[in-house]
Amino acid sequence: MMFPAIIGHRGVPHLAPENTMASFKLALESGADGLETDVQMTKDGELVLIHDELLERTTDGTGLVATHTLGELRALDAGGWFSPEFKGERIPTLREFLEFVSGRDLLVNIEIKSGVVLYPGIEQELIALLRAYGVTENVIISSFNHYSLVACKEIDGAIKTGILYMCGMVNPWVYAKSIGADALHPLFYSVRSETIGGMKDSGLLINPYTVDAPRDMRNMIGLGVDSIITNYCDVLRRIKDGDKA
Ligand code: G3P
Ligand code: MG
Repeated sequence: MMFPAIIGHRGVPHLAPENTMASFKLALESGADGLETDVQMTKDGELVLIHDELLERTTDGTGLVATHTLGELRALDAGGWFSPEFKGERIPTLREFLEFVSGRDLLVNIEIKSGVVLYPGIEQELIALLRAYGVTENVIISSFNHYSLVACKEIDGAIKTGILYMCGMVNPWVYAKSIGADALHPLFYSVRSETIGGMKDSGLLINPYTVDAPRDMRNMIGLGVDSIITNYCDVLRRIKDGDKA
């Protein structure tokens, strides 16, 4: 694989409803080298893939993910809001997603959404499932809640973690290393010619998000980042392959 790797953010959400199996499959068909997704926990302790803590935007349900059982969530439609073609798509379980990625040569970035709503035990359950499906090597766990990343490292020191951040953090690699992280997942604005040297010298992986404009994609490629997390994996694929985008 040529670097930077193309990571489909929630799949390929301009072509298929975000965080659905349809979107993950289409992202790979559109040229993604890997997938990013967001994990939360149901009322009965199952892990599901959905970005918002609330169901309203991306399903026909209402209220918090955390107050619904898996059975209740699986009865919801997670595709019809996007277009009639995708009606019937479900909120994926993490198990379903890991079954899909297992055995494929893919980079997988699982973001723990544990900030607005806290999910005690989510790190333990996530890592247990990664082990069960034999995908720990392919996965980077990221989060804006860095306590979650510390918890992951305490459970399994070999699991890769990446700090998500959107502020202009000074020397983020010093901080990232202090919590044992393996990767920086910055909002892409803070990856610049002035900061890239320190990031690279740190030896940490540099995986900016969410890079959607062709100009910004080219800039990130020029700076030599490791992965680019994008909503437009198809566009980035064409740029990487040298076509006009
Ligand atoms: O992991 C990158 C990105 O997904 C972080 O923000 O809100 O899109 O999950 P968000
Ligand atoms: Mg995310």
